[in-house]
Amino acid sequence: MKKIVVLISGGGSNLEAIAKACKIGNIPASVELVISNQTDVKGLERAKKFHLMSKVIEHQKYNSREEFDQALLEQILPIEPDLVVLAGFMRILSKDFTDALSGKLINIHPSLLPNYPGLNTHKQAIENGDLMHGISVHYVNNELDGGPIITQGALKIDPSQSETKLINRIHKIEHAVYPKVIADIAKGYISLQGDQVKFESESYFSPNHMEFFNV
Ligand code: GAR
Repeated sequence: MKKIVVLISGGGSNLEAIAKACKIGNIPASVELVISNQTDVKGLERAKKFHLMSKVIEHQKYNSREEFDQALLEQILPIEPDLVVLAGFMRILSKDFTDALSGKLINIHPSLLPNYPGLNTHKQAIENGDLMHGISVHYVNNELDGGPIITQGALKIDPSQSETKLINRIHKIEHAVYPKVIADIAKGYISLQGDQVKFESESYFSPNHMEFFNV
């Protein structure tokens, strides 16, 4: 059984989708630890609901990004995880951290990267009059929301819809795509070779894969 660590900062709806998929056997792995950098977030309640071990490591308590990242690594590395999953973890990571987990660190970001790294992606997509919006799952390097893309999921923006509605639609795509990617990584169907994502023929995904969702 492969071992996963999940890092969160907030609601944890992606954590829940991942935990469910592990529980029903769709992902052949177990979530060994959930780390949140925020106290009192819904994601921690969700971890409890699925009987997952969780820890809070508050970034404010560290003098520098490097010290905080070191504290994260001290919790993560002894577990010897096969995969570390960023699921709404809203911190920029230092090079030491991404190097220590190279090839084992993935992120989901609510935009069609390279569009809109960073925050407020939905608002920017609406304000710019974009026709499409979406999500990207990628291996992580030390650039903000950077690293080789594994897959993207897209939807058509309805300009009459609110930002909240758009966020909900984006979440639906995330909950469908992220567990599927994690399952394929756990099965060895997706891996990082140098700075290229390698897809075995058994993978649901393939290079430059982008799926359109009618959600
Ligand atoms: C998700 O939409 C995820 O893509 C985004 O935070 C949200 C977390 O939701 N991540 C980023 O913006 C990373 N740059 P959740 O806590 O309900 O899973």
